[in-house]
Amino acid sequence: MKIIIYLAASANGLISNDRNVPDWLSPQYGQGFMSISQHTKAVIMGKTSYNILAPDYLPLKEEGSLVVLTHDTKAIPPQSNVLFTSDSPEKIIAQLAAKGHTEAVIIGGTQTVSEFVKAGLVNELILVVEPVLFGKGLPLLKDVEFEYKLSLLDMKKLNDNTVQLHYQIREGS
Ligand SMILES: NC(=O)c1ccc[n+]([C@@H]2O[C@H](COP(=O)([O-])OP(=O)(O)OC[C@H]3O[C@@H](n4cnc5c(N)ncnc54)[C@H](OP(=O)(O)O)[C@@H]3O)[C@@H](O)[C@H]2O)c1
Repeated sequence: MKIIIYLAASANGLISNDRNVPDWLSPQYGQGFMSISQHTKAVIMGKTSYNILAPDYLPLKEEGSLVVLTHDTKAIPPQSNVLFTSDSPEKIIAQLAAKGHTEAVIIGGTQTVSEFVKAGLVNELILVVEPVLFGKGLPLLKDVEFEYKLSLLDMKKLNDNTVQLHYQIREGS
């Protein structure tokens, strides 16, 4: 099972600004977000990110699997393909594999990305670097003690000012 993180970041590596308004995101980030979700048909996110996206901007409608990390697992999801879960990253991945998924994308936010990185379960990172600097905001990772080495698989200029970096997380790093 291949696990990919797909995130937009400021040029100084933050994934959210202090205002918590996503007005710095390019249309190309949004297109990539939809496109990778449609490709994997398995999307993992935290409840805070879900609350920002639901119901209109969820990347999958009534197809595939949308896994949402939350302690409130009794809440009833509005779509049949949404799973509210507090299971471990290992268990979530095993469940997606059992459903026949071979790839899944984690789309945020910091807590959720960090849980999967800490568990050593992420294979690739796609970072859309937007042309902004924030003094304050959320880091890509929090409370992750290990260091990981990356190999650059691809880089693309998405528009005049935005680049996409696609990394593989090196095994055993
Ligand atoms: N730049 C980007 O590409 C991008 C993408 C997505 C989001 N974001 C930004 O990221 C921010 C949100 O990030 P975040 O780190 O605050 O939140 P998050 O990861 O989206 O969600 C955090 C929530 O997920 C649940 N959760 C996390 N770990 C869990 C675990 N082990 N077990 C059960 N539930 C767990 C908890 O929900 P409960 O409280 O319900 O238990 C927690 O409050 C937003 O500002 C958003 O704009 C940026």
